[in-house]
Amino acid sequence: MPLIQLQNVSKIYKRRDVEVRSLEGVSLDVEKGEFVVIYGVSGSGKTTLLNLIGGLDKPTSGKVIVDSLDLTTQDEHQLSLYRREKVGFIFQGFNLIPTLTAFENVLFPLIPIPMPEEEKKRKVREILSLILPIQRLWEQLPLELSGGEQQRVAIARALINNPQILLADEPTSDLDTKTSQQIIDLLWEANKKGCTVIIATHDPRILKRASLGVEMEDGKIKEIRKGAVS
Ligand SMILES: Nc1ncnc2c1ncn2[C@@H]1O[C@H](COP(=O)(O)OP(=O)(O)OP(=O)(O)O)[C@@H](O)[C@H]1O
Ligand SMILES: [Mg+2]
Repeated sequence: MPLIQLQNVSKIYKRRDVEVRSLEGVSLDVEKGEFVVIYGVSGSGKTTLLNLIGGLDKPTSGKVIVDSLDLTTQDEHQLSLYRREKVGFIFQGFNLIPTLTAFENVLFPLIPIPMPEEEKKRKVREILSLILPIQRLWEQLPLELSGGEQQRVAIARALINNPQILLADEPTSDLDTKTSQQIIDLLWEANKKGCTVIIATHDPRILKRASLGVEMEDGKIKEIRKGAVS
């Protein structure tokens, strides 16, 4: 059975009298270990799709099933457990907590987990050593870091719980070529370690790595193709 199944999913936002069909009749199967790239013009529904898979939002109709769990029938508490245990998020614009240092931001998802404090800190040091090796940056606030450094912190935070699924929304936008390439390599390595990765992006360097390419248009899937998109 596929790890992720979207079955005829629609998401309609109502604003005053206007209905926005953000997604319409989307069906998609994603196997474990896949490197999925979702692309398509601005407003085509990419972020909405990631939010539904990540249990941050519910569809208006249709089903979202992840690892045999039907997300559409879960309450808020169950969804928060699902997110905590299975999903790592890298949001459009990073979403770091501005009052916490880089180290504390990465530690943050571990707070509710029953594990000795020293063990948690050891895990954070271990992942930051790989992703943000310059140790003096660990004590800096997000505002005191460059965009690329913030993105690294966001990736470390997303990976700290060894998520089954990593969702990344435009992870390389606003980054220079070299930093983007390093970020892509980090996502790629997570995928090689078994994490199912789903990325919304226009970045051709990421499209090249896809095992499954999903093109969105007007809230619908226009095309699904196996292998790299070029
Ligand atoms: N909370 C919301 N309320 C109302 N409409 C929304 C909401 N979120 C998204 N939409 C609308 O749904 C459509 C799809 O938005 P979405 O953010 O999924 O697009 P996207 O493909 O991620 O675009 P971009 O490439 O610009 O990030 C857009 O028309 C958007 O205006
Ligand atoms: Mg988006």
